[in-house]
Amino acid sequence: MKNTVIYPGSFDPPTNGHINIVERSLKIFDRVIVAVAEHSTKVPIFSPAERVEMMQTIFSTHKNVIIEPFSGLLMTYARQKGVQKILRGIRNVGDYEFESQMMLVNRALDPELDTIFMMTEGRFSHISSSIIREIVTLGGSITGMVHPVVEQKLKSKLTP
Ligand code: PNS
Repeated sequence: MKNTVIYPGSFDPPTNGHINIVERSLKIFDRVIVAVAEHSTKVPIFSPAERVEMMQTIFSTHKNVIIEPFSGLLMTYARQKGVQKILRGIRNVGDYEFESQMMLVNRALDPELDTIFMMTEGRFSHISSSIIREIVTLGGSITGMVHPVVEQKLKSKLTP
């Protein structure tokens, strides 16, 4: 599919950093498929259906943002979609090391698949899904770090 990019991730939960990447990518691509990984090496807080639902709520007014769950290899999913471009956000050098390895693995599996990296904006570069989970669990405020829908879901899930 022409000028479509796949933005994959766990999104457990989605952060304002993720939202910012999707919004900025719409200036470059005609369509973004947000691919929510069903399986992850980490133990998830939210089910795949809950993560998809949060993203669908956040992007409900964006017709060119498609939210879907995916399982298995990303390259297989991309091939099924007929898309050869992957989008990933990078916050820092630590992310770069992991992301460059993932990019090379994906290209080794499918040489047609390319990854485009977008630097996270400075105001979001300290935010990660795991940091958000920790702050909520320990009773801190995550206002401004996540969408209000996500904040409410997290509080009802993680606070007694
Ligand atoms: O938000 P995350 O957890 O950093 O996202 C990582 C994700 C889901 C994009 C990555 O783990 C992935 O692509 N998983 C699918 C399995 C796969 O294709 N692995 C080989 C590439 S490393």
